[in-house]
Amino acid sequence: MPEHTHVPPWKIKVIEPIALVSPQRRLAALDEAGWNTFGLRAEDVFIDLLTDSGTSALSQEQRAAMELGDESYAGSRSFYRLEAAMRETYGYKHLIPAHQGRGAEHLLSQIAVRPGQLVASNLYFTTSRAHAELAGGIWTDVSIPEAADPESDHPFKGNLDCEKLDAVLREGDVAFVRVETCLNMAGGQPVSIENLRQVRALTLGHGVPLILDATRASENAFFVREREPGWADVPFGDVLRTMTSLSDGAVFSSKKDHFVPIGGMLCLNDDALAERARELVVVYEGFPHYGGMSGSAMEALAQGIRESADEEMVSQYVRQGRYLGGLLREAGVPIVVPVGAHAVFLDAKRFLPHVVQTDFPAQSLAAAIYAAGGVRTMERGIVSGQHGDRPYHGLELVRLTLPRRVYTAEHLDYVAAVVSEVLAVRDEVPGLRMTYAPEHLRFFTARFEPLVPFPPFGAEAPPELAVR
Ligand code: F0G
Repeated sequence: MPEHTHVPPWKIKVIEPIALVSPQRRLAALDEAGWNTFGLRAEDVFIDLLTDSGTSALSQEQRAAMELGDESYAGSRSFYRLEAAMRETYGYKHLIPAHQGRGAEHLLSQIAVRPGQLVASNLYFTTSRAHAELAGGIWTDVSIPEAADPESDHPFKGNLDCEKLDAVLREGDVAFVRVETCLNMAGGQPVSIENLRQVRALTLGHGVPLILDATRASENAFFVREREPGWADVPFGDVLRTMTSLSDGAVFSSKKDHFVPIGGMLCLNDDALAERARELVVVYEGFPHYGGMSGSAMEALAQGIRESADEEMVSQYVRQGRYLGGLLREAGVPIVVPVGAHAVFLDAKRFLPHVVQTDFPAQSLAAAIYAAGGVRTMERGIVSGQHGDRPYHGLELVRLTLPRRVYTAEHLDYVAAVVSEVLAVRDEVPGLRMTYAPEHLRFFTARFEPLVPFPPFGAEAPPELAVR
């Protein structure tokens, strides 16, 4: 069956109007934004594929649960309901709530990393690495080589290279090993349970904690059931629990799998570490019974956790990404394969072969896609990945990220048409020059200028679309 026959297990009850602004306005908006899609105003964006973070649609059950939010500063009923949902789904002993994922990463880095210690991880995530480094840690990549190869069809590109990890554990002082499920920077690529088991054995052997970044654990469980021998008949929830049972704790940005606009969790099994985290959460996030979330946000999160363990919901989401990936491949667009959890990633090195990496091809391609059709995407290349002035030759990708339960197949057909339009004139898309970069996480707010003017993209908007 074609992917689009996988009909969503929901229908739409509340809508938010969107409109395509004129091609002239889009170019002006890019200029105002410093040619960085993060700088665009939402009202200038037609289809927003910047991120799946906090952009999902809530369910009616989540909205109803929010009415029960207990805003007690301490001892909130909502906290205990959230804790119960976390334990039921993931089985960790302690929950330290945080306002979002990076709040939890901050706490974890402060309690677990001493200056000079290593944090070994499959590739990296921007905020995860930043917090480890701010605590004095040294990030160490132990991903398998296939993770950095957009054309490799390895089914578990999120796996860790156990030989590399073993050497790091033998030689270095390692604070913790971080395993990111559905590895974002490689294209949302899963980790196999077999690999997790091997990593678990190594970390136990060296007495080093294994911490999951379980932000996209649901999709990881989906891929395990689909691809890993022996797991197809295991209930979805049991696969999730198997994954979490192989770790000492986890960080969650709940803004993804849990369908909430805000929220995060640090989960730990160790009593002493949890106690230290609770000592710090009051300094940075809030009392340990809310950690920066309102009572109603915790209620939405508790319900969202349950929905994230609903296989139908997860399956439709992953297949939606595959549908978009299929359209793009048919159009000859170079994408990262296999299509991963939460997004389709374009390979900017192959899309814009005439733009050298130091002229920011992915940043420029993201700008071109916006100019062509008001579709907002995100750079995941040298701007996000380069460390200081160190040479960077890694992945150079543009991420078309799917909010959960938000866009329909028609929206995705339009997105594919826009990207195809850019492909048709790709030789005219120029590189960029960086004019401003902040000290940390520069991709969020860096500014650029085109090396030569952009081609005049986008005919006038089709008449059926509103134009301001
Ligand atoms: N870990 C992973 C794997 C993430 O993808 C993110 C956020 C975080 C941690 C941090 O969580 O945003 O709640 O503070 N990723 C978003 C993205 C921003 O667009 O990929 P946060």
